Amino acid sequence: MMERICNFLKEAGVYYLATVEGDQPRVRPFGTAIIFEGKLYIQTGKVKPVSKQIAVNPKVELCAFKDGAWLRVAGELVEDDRFEAKKAMLDEYSNLRAMYDENDGNTQVLYFEHGTATFSSFTAAPEVIVF
Ligand SMILES: Cc1cc2nc3c(=O)[nH]c(=O)nc-3n(C[C@H](O)[C@H](O)[C@H](O)COP(=O)(O)O)c2cc1C
Repeated sequence: MMERICNFLKEAGVYYLATVEGDQPRVRPFGTAIIFEGKLYIQTGKVKPVSKQIAVNPKVELCAFKDGAWLRVAGELVEDDRFEAKKAMLDEYSNLRAMYDENDGNTQVLYFEHGTATFSSFTAAPEVIVF
């Protein structure tokens, strides 16, 4: 189930992560997604506005599109500051090691909590997965 969500994000190549800043939605392209200890993790840098927005309000939604179908994942992001969680991410996205390492004080990995994934298409009824 979590693998299906993560695989869709990986195969789409890019997803768009929305945060809220006050009453203003913010959205940007993201690419990182792994399953670690059964949870869906993404990666960012603490210096980025996106990270600061999540720190104030952890509610986010992402959307990805692939082969006529789209996936939305809504939920709250929880920071995991453990070395091993960051290592799992950087090992999978080793090109990120040009910019990030586990102990740089900037690398941040977060996992979805209270998640709802919705698979949609023009041809089938939406499929909702609560995780
Ligand atoms: C295809 C693509 C994938 C990206 N993936 C990530 C990612 O996984 N994590 C990240 O922090 N930034 C990623 N970025 C860069 C962010 O989109 C960029 O830093 C953005 O400005 C962050 O949002 P903010 O300016 O609101 O903080 C990606 C950019 C592109 C074009």
